[in-house]
Amino acid sequence: MTLAIFVTIAIFAVKYRRRRHPEAVQIEGSTILELTWSIIPLRIFMFIFVWGAVIYFQERTPPRDSVEVYVVAKQWMWKLQHQEGAREINELHVPVGKDVKLIMTSQDVIHSFYIPAFRLKQDVLPGRYTTLWLRATRPGVYHLFCAEYCGTQHSGMIGQIVVMEPREYALWMSQSNTFGTLAASGQSMFEQLGCQTCHRMDTQGRGPNLSGVYGSPVQLEDGRMVTADENYIRESILAPSAKVVSGFKPIMPVFQGLVSEDQLNSLVAYIKSLHPEPSGSAGDPMMAPAGVKPQNQ
Ligand code: CUA
Repeated sequence: MTLAIFVTIAIFAVKYRRRRHPEAVQIEGSTILELTWSIIPLRIFMFIFVWGAVIYFQERTPPRDSVEVYVVAKQWMWKLQHQEGAREINELHVPVGKDVKLIMTSQDVIHSFYIPAFRLKQDVLPGRYTTLWLRATRPGVYHLFCAEYCGTQHSGMIGQIVVMEPREYALWMSQSNTFGTLAASGQSMFEQLGCQTCHRMDTQGRGPNLSGVYGSPVQLEDGRMVTADENYIRESILAPSAKVVSGFKPIMPVFQGLVSEDQLNSLVAYIKSLHPEPSGSAGDPMMAPAGVKPQNQ
């Protein structure tokens, strides 16, 4: 487009220069010409717009069966918690060819998770989750940068994305997996904080039954309908009265400041791992879900 415009300017400047045309000649408009130069560029730009929008939506929507990794940014490092339990600092190991969803938050200022080789960049904000997903196609080691000025050591807030063959990755995971699953640490947090005294796995609790809540619509006391995504679960823990579930009273204590971002992530992972009990199955419903690999619904 730029080339077409400037070449035309140059041609016209020469062709209609003052020496050859001392007297200006009036040129009447041409409907066909005007329609042509309107409709053709419109089509080209609309094509590029739709193309870009499709890619944008693909990039913003993580596939449902992605492996999940929680990212906590802080001045000046990246902390990563794998669903299966491994934890890393400034390094993220991922298997090649697998969809990986990053659920990211910051415990201080705004950072930005940037992997130039993957053409991916997403701001990481305090107080909420932002997400990003990727599917690495080639094994190797790639740069991870922070792309938002976040203080004196901003330029040192760097790391690596290590893309491994699935077999190597499984080996790495089995060696690094010393913490138990994220959902299991979430479960012990849940019990430590006494959440299960109200959030019982039946309908008798003073708080809503949380099994199967992730991903499902929730009717609120004020009539609104929301989807229980990661940000909803997060808010319901930190500031429970913001969205009170229909039929319940706003009696839950506020956990803002009482749980760290890492602990909050494990709680969210635990609540996401809770599935409704298949009818007729026996066993302790509180103990069942966390050992199982969490699945998205
Ligand atoms: Cu974190 Cu710049």
